[in-house]
Amino acid sequence: MHAIPARVRDTGSMAIALPAEQMVTLRDGTPVRVRPIRPDDAPRLIEFHSRLSMNTTRLRFFTPMKRLSATFAEHLCTVDFKKRCAFVISPLDSDSIHAVGRYEGESRHSAEVAFVVEDSFQGKGIGTILLDRLVEHARAKGFDRLTAVVLCENLNMLTLFRESPYSPEITMQSECAFVKMNIAVPGPAVAAQKRRPRSLAPVPRLRTAEE
Ligand SMILES: CC(C)(COP(=O)(O)OP(=O)(O)OC[C@H]1O[C@@H](n2cnc3c(N)ncnc32)[C@H](O)[C@@H]1OP(=O)(O)O)[C@@H](O)C(=O)NCCC(=O)NCCS
Repeated sequence: MHAIPARVRDTGSMAIALPAEQMVTLRDGTPVRVRPIRPDDAPRLIEFHSRLSMNTTRLRFFTPMKRLSATFAEHLCTVDFKKRCAFVISPLDSDSIHAVGRYEGESRHSAEVAFVVEDSFQGKGIGTILLDRLVEHARAKGFDRLTAVVLCENLNMLTLFRESPYSPEITMQSECAFVKMNIAVPGPAVAAQKRRPRSLAPVPRLRTAEE
């Protein structure tokens, strides 16, 4: 994994420091970028969404969603990287989107995470990479807990959380699983890489913009 210098996004009224991009290698050897989302990603997010299967959109939004509206896409792409944050997976040579991982702050110390990976890119370690990146960033912003709500049938997502080193507590209630992870202790992202060597090529720990 290699750090790519952080950039600043000019919002007109105030500049937002974008978290650093990282380069990672997927399980199948494909190098990709983990980069912060930007407002100008809205058309790319709509395009990404249009490539998702109905089952993938249903697992993400709990209802099959054929297309993403421009307004919702703009909302999802415009984040402050404090209370709301999102990283996307892009190829090295373009900004097109293959996956998104995000958190939305729900209190000062807790944020809810959600992920969606393009069907043909699932099972290559991207979900795990995005979780580690979100944990690293959320911890730097003062969060000590991440939560998620997942359909009980979503074994891939639940396995990803269960195998994570963030002390997951999972409670099943009706059709939903409620996940709580403790991210207060520094260093688990490194542990995650060691415990899940198939997700990433061996890499040194990297410093990011918020450190
Ligand atoms: C759930 C999801 C985000 C996981 O992302 P991913 O990139 O596929 O996950 P990873 O490759 O990091 O795999 C994590 C674990 O899930 C399981 N898994 C994921 N995809 C799998 C597949 N196609 N076949 C078998 N197992 C799979 C594996 O157990 C894997 O564990 P491992 O690392 O020990 O092999 C992705 O499948 C997805 O977008 N699903 C649809 C949307 C969704 O469910 N969102 C969650 C709402 S919060």
